[in-house]
Amino acid sequence: MRVLTIIPTYNELESLPKTLTRLREAVPSVDVLIADDNSPDGTGELADQFAAADPQVKVLHRKGKEGLGAAYIAGFNWGLEAGYDVLVEMDADGSHQPEQLPLLLDAVEQGADLVLGSRWVPGGKVVNWPLHRKLISRGGSLYSRILLGVRYRDITGGYRAFRRETLEQIDLTKVDSVGYGFQVDMLWRAAQLGLKIVEVPITFVEREFGASKMSGNIFQEAVLNVTKWGLTARWNKLTGKQAKR
Ligand code: GDD
Ligand code: MN
Repeated sequence: MRVLTIIPTYNELESLPKTLTRLREAVPSVDVLIADDNSPDGTGELADQFAAADPQVKVLHRKGKEGLGAAYIAGFNWGLEAGYDVLVEMDADGSHQPEQLPLLLDAVEQGADLVLGSRWVPGGKVVNWPLHRKLISRGGSLYSRILLGVRYRDITGGYRAFRRETLEQIDLTKVDSVGYGFQVDMLWRAAQLGLKIVEVPITFVEREFGASKMSGNIFQEAVLNVTKWGLTARWNKLTGKQAKR
């Protein structure tokens, strides 16, 4: 399996070196694509230095800040084009442990079409995360479970492994592109396709450097979208209309 880990970056100058080094050591056969949105702090230039020294590290320089979802979608398209079999989402800030990536890849080997690194299944852990973020994450997942009628525990998480065929069946041009909404939308589309989705426990560790780019309006937008998707799906079911998303 040729595996590509996509790391979206916006102002991750302090976090990226440690995450990248850990990733290259933990799973040396996995290639890396850094999708940088023209970070003002020079993350893109730093990424270029890593790429110059390591043929398994590539950089996708993007024009400007368009949300982590748009960066991942650009990374997915790059990886599909380059022929990778598995594409991984991983944050640059050390929240996702590179040493746990084999857990996700094993689940793909065993037949999963999409693997969710999950904080809220037995064995899942969260370290140094403020209570309000835990509540948002658990509350957001609970709300999405009810509205979307799916049974996954961690619906907004951002540590995932996609089999290429999964991404080829999703119309990436229609996916919601910022923050939590992106994560919920990708999962919801895979679930609607009836794909095999597996959750594996991970340890999410809050970042040591820099700041989260998630914001209140990203959260509100996600709640609105989940409500719209959920109610539309119920209406379509009621009226027998085919869900077209
Ligand atoms: N290229 C690019 N453009 N990268 C971005 C952008 C953007 O606009 N916004 C954020 N990122 C990158 C960050 O640099 C980091 O590598 C990753 O996306 C996650 O961003 P954070 O700002 O650290 O997100 P978070 O920790 O608050 O949220 C995490 O948990 C959420 C809930 O589980 C992320 O993993 C989210 O994806 C997840 O939904
Ligand atoms: Mn983070």
